[in-house]
Amino acid sequence: MKIMIAADYRKLSQMAADIVAKQVQTKNNSVLGLATGSTPEGMYSILSHMHRQDNLDFSEVITFNLDEYVGLAPDHPQSYHYYMKHHFFKQVNVKSCNINIPCTEKNNPEKVCREYDQEINNSGGIDLQVLGIGTNGHIGFNEPGRLLSVDTHIVDLTEETIEANSRFFKSKNEVPRRAVTMGVGSIMKAKKIMLLASGLNKAKAVKEMLSGKVTTDLPASLLQLHHDPLFILDHEAASLFQAKE
Ligand code: PGA
Repeated sequence: MKIMIAADYRKLSQMAADIVAKQVQTKNNSVLGLATGSTPEGMYSILSHMHRQDNLDFSEVITFNLDEYVGLAPDHPQSYHYYMKHHFFKQVNVKSCNINIPCTEKNNPEKVCREYDQEINNSGGIDLQVLGIGTNGHIGFNEPGRLLSVDTHIVDLTEETIEANSRFFKSKNEVPRRAVTMGVGSIMKAKKIMLLASGLNKAKAVKEMLSGKVTTDLPASLLQLHHDPLFILDHEAASLFQAKE
């Protein structure tokens, strides 16, 4: 388990982008597991810059996104399809046929879930999985609870997640109640995992994630069982964890 602490969000984003860039330079047909949310925005912006300035080449890269809301069309401004296109895909040269994001619009959600894990396996598996963490310790949309699902599945979002995500919508009522997410098994199968956490509102979840105890009440704590996890934290997100050290 490796932990890197960055002075601020900009440095955290640079560290994360450098690791993705190294992955892609080392293996040009890398399979990347990608996350949305505000945390990786800086990383995507730096990777886009590296593509323009230094010809960082994504032409053979295959991507799988962690999750997507059920019921939002891909062109809805709050859908994760839209986020990925805006923040990353239209800035770089990933081929559209190599982009995978669960899409339940017009498709049977159960079938989408089944086929998603199959597609990941067919691609050879995820080389590097990028993750954020929710204030409640979720990864993807794997919410705290008594049981966690192994495979890609449909989830009912918790009130805490709906509340946290309502900042992106006009009102809380507009936040979808369900999502498709890769399961904790799909995530843990990745060869490498890189989790990013920034800000004081993540400090408690980060402390529990790295506590040395594993619980389904804090899904990110399972990452302590992965063979090659990297946690990139800024000072604020690391503050309670460091206070304990
Ligand atoms: P955030 O979301 O990056 O917008 O804080 C992270 C998450 O909920 O996984």
